[in-house]
Amino acid sequence: MSIHLGDEAPDFTAETTEGSIDFHRWKAGKWAVLFSHPADYTPVCTTELGRTATINSEFEKRDVKTIAVSVDPVEDHRGWAPDIRDVGGTDLNFPIIADPDRRVSALYDMIHAGEGDTSTVRSVFIIDPQNKVRLTLTYPKSVGRNFDEILRVIDALQLTDAHPVSTPADWTPGDQVIVSPAMATDEARQRFEQVEEAKPYLRWAAYPQS
Ligand code: BEZ
Repeated sequence: MSIHLGDEAPDFTAETTEGSIDFHRWKAGKWAVLFSHPADYTPVCTTELGRTATINSEFEKRDVKTIAVSVDPVEDHRGWAPDIRDVGGTDLNFPIIADPDRRVSALYDMIHAGEGDTSTVRSVFIIDPQNKVRLTLTYPKSVGRNFDEILRVIDALQLTDAHPVSTPADWTPGDQVIVSPAMATDEARQRFEQVEEAKPYLRWAAYPQS
């Protein structure tokens, strides 16, 4: 089953390095990043999980819980954890789901038949506090993901949920934003600083402060 933006993130129960979890209950009204990797004890995956552990406090600051998944069993995940710490420099500080029967992987369509074997590709799902899927990304097995990009998207989603704005190409926090097309320019000038009309349909505003 493929998952589309706006869908409810499928719920599941699974064994993890932190015990059995019920996904929706585990995330409990927070944002979540659910991401898959092909296999334990592999180089790219080790760098990705190490990086996630190192910046996990950045996810926590944004009220986001991180959780990884692969088709390897929980004993392998536990045995691999010291390597993740050695490579990334931080103890594993988020759960890894063990999915040897491929239930979670199938639910989230993380196994792509054309990609060689029955392991998961590098999928990412950003899921909001209401359990709605807000972003999906799929990377090939040979290419590690950019976790700063995942934080950037979370910042953009949280900002655009809070204000009638969008974010332009290559936006980073603090940059100008785009006023929603639904808002008249006069109203935008009352709500935002430094509103500029580049085109009738493209109005810039300063980064909203509150
Ligand atoms: C890796 O993590 O290095 C990897 C895993 C599976 C396929 C290719 C690379």
